[in-house]
Amino acid sequence: MGGILVGKAEMRTYAVSMHRDIQRVLISEAEIHQRLDELAGQIMVDFADDELVVVALLKGALVFVADMVRRLPVKLSIEFMSVASYHGGKESSGSLVYFDRDLPDVAGRKVLLVDDILDTGLTLSEVMQRLLDAGAAEVKCCVLLEKKKAREVEMNADYAAFMIEDEFVVGYGLDYQGRYRNLPYVGVFGGKMG
Ligand code: IMP
Ligand code: MG
Repeated sequence: MGGILVGKAEMRTYAVSMHRDIQRVLISEAEIHQRLDELAGQIMVDFADDELVVVALLKGALVFVADMVRRLPVKLSIEFMSVASYHGGKESSGSLVYFDRDLPDVAGRKVLLVDDILDTGLTLSEVMQRLLDAGAAEVKCCVLLEKKKAREVEMNADYAAFMIEDEFVVGYGLDYQGRYRNLPYVGVFGGKMG
């Protein structure tokens, strides 16, 4: 076993630096977990006897999907697709970048597509269409957050854990310039943008 990597003083610094850019906690860790129990129950009603492919979009859905799949006691497999629409900033670029060479094999299978947030709708609508074009029997879409705003394309989430106002949030998988994904709650970002 290795020695102690981080001393108490450094631990305190990490804790402070992680939280100090958060203007306020929007959804606490406890609220998230309680709601995920309910959401999983809803999904189980719809998919009770089915074999599922869960397709999660990296990196944002990483934390959410890990907590969700442990609440879904059906035979499922987990696939990931790595896509980006934000390019590190605050505004959506309007076009998707795919980092994978191949799509997961979804032909003839029921898919639960999981992402962190439904914002303009561009990401989910485009990925959903790709999966359907690849022969998926059905694609249902599950997000942690849904922003209350007009979508740029028509897109509804079949399952959404929380509706939020149109504010920029981080934590529980959501990032600002690659950071803050490891916050255990969802918070309104209050750090410097740019
Ligand atoms: P859409 O394609 O505009 O619906 O955006 C989806 C992607 O934008 C998400 O997967 C996030 O990566 C990112 N995004 C949208 N809103 C936020 C936010 O408030 N905080 C962090 N990322 C966001
Ligand atoms: Mg994302």
